[in-house]
Amino acid sequence: MTVLPRRAGAALALALLSIVPGVAAQAPRDAGIPTPYVPSTSIAVDEMLRAAGVGPRDFVVDLGSGDGRIVIAAARDYGARGLGIEIDGGLVRESIENARKAGVEERVTFRQGDVLEAEFSEATVVTLYLLPQLVEQLKPRLLRMRPGTRIVAHDFGFADWRPDRSVVISKHYHLYVVPARVGGKWRLEADLPGGARGYDFELEQTFQQVRGGARVPGGYLPAFEARVAGDRITFVLVEEDASHHFEGHVRGYEMEGTVRSGAGLKRATGRWRATRVLGVPDEG
Ligand SMILES: C[S@@+](CC[C@H](N)C(=O)[O-])C[C@H]1O[C@@H](n2cnc3c(N)ncnc32)[C@H](O)[C@@H]1O
Repeated sequence: MTVLPRRAGAALALALLSIVPGVAAQAPRDAGIPTPYVPSTSIAVDEMLRAAGVGPRDFVVDLGSGDGRIVIAAARDYGARGLGIEIDGGLVRESIENARKAGVEERVTFRQGDVLEAEFSEATVVTLYLLPQLVEQLKPRLLRMRPGTRIVAHDFGFADWRPDRSVVISKHYHLYVVPARVGGKWRLEADLPGGARGYDFELEQTFQQVRGGARVPGGYLPAFEARVAGDRITFVLVEEDASHHFEGHVRGYEMEGTVRSGAGLKRATGRWRATRVLGVPDEG
């Protein structure tokens, strides 16, 4: 573990440059060195919590929690509960003391441990200020979290997972919303104006981006404007001169919601439901 002087405002990349000459000149993603202690500034703490839209119902987990400032601010300023996981025992003790001084010790917990082994599946918000290699190692577990979980990465985001939103205020903050796993084959039943319809429906998924469509006798209906946001899915099927706008929620092996057909006064609303045929959510 490398402990750097606790200079608020020092960017992690700059700090790395000062301790490992040449690191910043190479691609930091391949640096393969441990993430040192460089605290987020108070501006960065606020912007991360703001980007995630933290509120009193949230459970905020900071992976590599340093002196506990993100978790403490989440409890003190946003009324959330929180957990910090930190490998350095000295920093964990300091965090517990800082929480006591801030009067939030009943709403926050700090644990010494390796983020790669720690349990944090109950989080509704995860914050990260870690080097890219560690961020990438965490990605498979983060992607398996409950759909809708918000992840905010300070400076270093994921290599291939496009952020749902990025904010630049002194530093870079990337917000990712864990998407429901919808890739695979589904049987879709929909209540449409012409009567009940059934489709073999197939989706390919890359993080929050989806594409696919419905097989119909002698043809294929592409799913237009298909999106997954947390546990919510939307797409449009066009058949025989009518567009059907599907909107619904994904719950593991099922999705269901409403479908709006036509427009204006002629618009009709029905229900739809899909059941997974092939592929389990983890593989989607
Ligand atoms: C850049 S600091 C960020 C501290 C704090 N999250 C903040 O934003 O102020 C990264 C922290 O991660 C901790 N860390 C590095 N690797 C870790 C690991 N594998 N498990 C747990 N903590 C780790 C370091 O000790 C350091 O305190």
